[in-house]
Amino acid sequence: MASTQGAHNILVASNRGPVTYEVQEDGSLRAKRGGGGLVSGLSAIGPDAGALWVCSALGDGDREAVRRGIAEDGVRMLDIDADVHADAYNGIANSVLWFVHHMLYQTPLEPVFDAEFRRQWASYEAYNRAFAEALAAEAAPGAVVIVQDYHLTLVPGMLRELRPDLRIGHFSHTPWAPVDYFRMLPDDIAEQVLRGMLGADRLGFLTQRWADAFTTCCDALVGGLGDTRIGVHGLGADADFLRRRSHEADVADRMATLREQIGEGRRTIVRVDRTELSKNIVRGLLAYRQLLEDHPEWRERVVHVAFAYPSRQDLAVYRDYTAEVQRVATEINDRYGTPDWTPVVLHVKDDFARSLAAYRLADVALVNPIRDGMNLVAKEVPVVSDEGCVLVLSREAGAYEELGEDAVVVNPYDVVGTARALDAALTMPVGERAERTKRLAAAGTALPPAQWFLEQLRELEG
Ligand code: G6P
Repeated sequence: MASTQGAHNILVASNRGPVTYEVQEDGSLRAKRGGGGLVSGLSAIGPDAGALWVCSALGDGDREAVRRGIAEDGVRMLDIDADVHADAYNGIANSVLWFVHHMLYQTPLEPVFDAEFRRQWASYEAYNRAFAEALAAEAAPGAVVIVQDYHLTLVPGMLRELRPDLRIGHFSHTPWAPVDYFRMLPDDIAEQVLRGMLGADRLGFLTQRWADAFTTCCDALVGGLGDTRIGVHGLGADADFLRRRSHEADVADRMATLREQIGEGRRTIVRVDRTELSKNIVRGLLAYRQLLEDHPEWRERVVHVAFAYPSRQDLAVYRDYTAEVQRVATEINDRYGTPDWTPVVLHVKDDFARSLAAYRLADVALVNPIRDGMNLVAKEVPVVSDEGCVLVLSREAGAYEELGEDAVVVNPYDVVGTARALDAALTMPVGERAERTKRLAAAGTALPPAQWFLEQLRELEG
C-alpha cells in the first residue's frame, strides 16, 4: 500500500515525547519540556534539519492540545483512543514486555496469558499501527526513522510494508530477556515481537549483553536475524549539562536543606530512582538495615538519603511497591532512629534540583537494580560529586559493562553482600575513592547523548 509522502528527513518515534501540556485553571495550556538523552540527542541536529518527533498524547492536556491544533515545532502528538493507549501502555508494554525484559514475574501467580491479554494485545497492535501510519505519512522519500523502545516493537515491520524506501532503526532502552525467559510469551506473540523489530535495517541496544540476548532469541525462535544489523550504543551522561546545572542556585538551596536533614559530620549513602520494581529499592533498604545491625559503629554516623519518585501509578503493583518502600523506610527509622538522627531520609516528590544536590553530597551512591538497561544515575553521580563518591553497583545494570572495574559490585539479590559492600564503600580510603570517581566520570561520559544519537543516524544513513 503506497501512502502520500511527507517532508521530514529524520524522524524519531517514542511513546513519551519531549513535551507535555497541562491545563491551567483558566483553561489555557502550558507546555512543559522534558529532559533525558533523546531530547538532548535530537536537539543536537538542530531545528532546521527537518526532524520530526512522533509521540503519544499522554494526558488530558496533551489531548486538548491536539484537539486545539497546538503543537511545538518538530513534534507531532498522536491522539490515540485513551482506552487503546491504556491497554497498550499499561497492559502490554509495562505489565508484560517490561516484566519479561526485567525478569520481574513472580510464580505462582504470574504470568497468565489469558483472553484479557489477547484483547490488550490487539490494542497494542492498533497503537503500533497508528505510529507506523503517522510515520509513513510524515517521512520524506528515503528518510531515516529511529523508533524507540518496547512500546513500539511492531512499528519497524509495519512501516517497512508501508514505506520500503525508508531507512528504519529501532533502539531498546531496556535489557533484553534471556531466551528461556522470553519464550514465556505465547509463541505467536514472541514471534510477532521479533519479526516486528526485524523489520528495521538496524537495531540498537545499550550493551553487548542485551544485543546478544536478542540475537539468541532470533536464532531460537525465528531462524536468525536475516538482513537486520545490530549495534551497541552505550548512552552516557551529559557532562556539560550536569556540571552547569548542578551549580545553579536552586541546587545550592537544596544542598543546605539536605545538610540539615543529614546532620553535621555524617556520611551519606544516596540513591535516586523512579519507584520501580526493577530498581530494587526495598532490598537496598534491607541492606542498609543489615549494615546498621552488623556494624553498630555506623549508627548515628551515616544517613541513607533515598529519593524514590512515583512512576506508573495506574498499575496496582507499582502502587503497592511504593507503599512497601515507605513502610520499610519507616520501620528502619522507628527501630534505629534517635532524637537527633534519622537513619533514612526518604523523599518521594520528584525534584531534579534536589537529586543533583544529593549527587553532590553523596559519599556512596547505591545503584542496585535487579536488571536495568543502563542506569544513568550510576554515570551521573561521579560527574557531579563534589568530593568523590564510591559507586556500589549491581552487576545486572547495563552500566556495569563500562563501570564495573571502578565500582564496588553487588549481586542485587544478596542483601548481606550488599550490606558488606556498603561498609567497604564507606571505609574506602579517600585517595582511592577520588581516583575511582575520576575514572568513573570519564567512562560514564564517553558517549554523550548528542553523539549517541548521531552515531545511530550515521550508521543508518551510511
Ligand atoms: C525508563 C526506561 C525506558 C522507558 C521509560 C518509560 O526510562 O529506561 O526504557 O522508555 O522508562 O517510562 P515511562 O514513565 O514513560 O513509563
